[in-house]
Parts: sequence; structure tokens; C-alpha cells
Amino acid sequence: MERLDKILSHTGFGTRKDVKAILKDGAVCINGVVVKDASAKIDTEKDELTVDGEKIDIKEHVYLMMNKAQDYVCSTKDGEHETVFACVPDCYKHAYLGGELHLVGRLDIDTEGLLLITTDGNLTHRLTSPKTHCSKKYLVHLRDGVDSTRQAEYTALFLRGVHIAAEGDDGEWDCKSAALEWIDADKCYLTIYEGRFHQVKRMFKAVGNEVVFLKRVAIGSLVLDGALKTGECRELSAEELSLLS
Ligand code: URA
Repeated sequence: MERLDKILSHTGFGTRKDVKAILKDGAVCINGVVVKDASAKIDTEKDELTVDGEKIDIKEHVYLMMNKAQDYVCSTKDGEHETVFACVPDCYKHAYLGGELHLVGRLDIDTEGLLLITTDGNLTHRLTSPKTHCSKKYLVHLRDGVDSTRQAEYTALFLRGVHIAAEGDDGEWDCKSAALEWIDADKCYLTIYEGRFHQVKRMFKAVGNEVVFLKRVAIGSLVLDGALKTGECRELSAEELSLLS
């Protein structure tokens, strides 16, 4: 059970003061009955809430899958570039009962692919905590094509855990074991179990190559929907959500 004024202000109807005005106008109904009492309680599972006759979808959380486009930054504000939130449809931008919309991890400005955006802090913590070892799979295009002997060397090195040089504020470290699947001389899939700054690019730099295109295609068992164009996003289905738990 939640208070009516809390639900209305969290579903885009402004401050508690704004909500009081809407209530006073008799615009709000619970199960078809006009309610003017801000402290009235709603069963968010069962009750039907309408404002001016329109049904309000009372949701605790929202879970979005985005196919991130290049040139968008993974942050809430940026003076120079558009942020990925510019690609989130307005209907998802109002507040939810469970928290603020935020990113589950980040991708570089020039990286495409699967990005999760949610209000569920517990999910975010679970997927991004270094202790969880959640896998992330990337499609990688390389500057230099690699012959089969060298491919086997890369694969063995990444499996053992390649040493990464310090970059910016991030020090050197030995990567966790990572899996390479070759598609072509200059294309492969890389699955990693951690998410350090510029990790994939630094892994290939460590073996003398360079990533020229990077796209995240999966997080854990959740695979990027191939029908989602770059820059588009949609809600996860219940089945997809269960893959992340
Ligand atoms: N690794 C990178 O280097 N960049 C990303 O955006 C994601 C992983």
C-alpha cells in the first residue's frame, strides 16, 4: 500500500503541492471513485488509478534495453555531446516509485550496443559489482588482421589473463580469464568478466593491436535484440529480466 500523493508525484504529476491541486479538482479516481484525500492508500497491485479518466501505470521499476549509438556519452550531463538519455522515450522519463532512472555500467562514446537503463538499484549493484563476475560479450573489429597461429596466441593469452598497462588514473592489472571466439582474421567476440576503464581496447593494445569498432552484444545471458536499431530502446520482457537475476 502506498499513499496517493506519493504515487502521483512519482508518476509525473509534480510536487505534493501540484498533486493537492489535482486532487482538489476531483480529477483523480481510485477504482472509479473520486478521491480528494492525499493520504488515501493505494494497493499498487490491485487498485486502478486514473487522472482525468486516463489510467496511470503504477510501476515500481522500469528496465530498458538500449542499442547504444556512437557519439552518445554514458552520463547524465555532458557539455559537448548528447547523452544516451536523449535516446530514452519521454514516456520513461517520469519518476518511478522505486528510484531514479540510471545506467547499469557504461560504454565509451564510440562503443555501440547493449546498454541497460533502470530504476532498480539492486539490479545495478548485482550486475556491476566486481564480486558478481557478470559476463559481458563484445563484438570486436581489429585494425590488424591476425593469422591462425597468432589467433591461437591471443586466445591463450586472454584465457590466462593478459597484463594491462596503467592508463589515466587507472593502474596496471592482470585481467581475469577472458574468452575469444574468432569470426575472421580481424573480427572476433570477446567475453570478459570484469569492466575496467577502456578494458577491451586496452586488452588488444596489450597484444599490439587496436580495436577499431566495438559493440556489446550480451550481458550475462541477456542478448541484444537484433531488431533494435542503433539509438533505440525498449522495455525488457519478463523473460529477459529473469535472465539477469
Ligand atoms: N571496453 C572498452 O574498451 N570500451 C567499452 O566501451 C566497453 C568495454
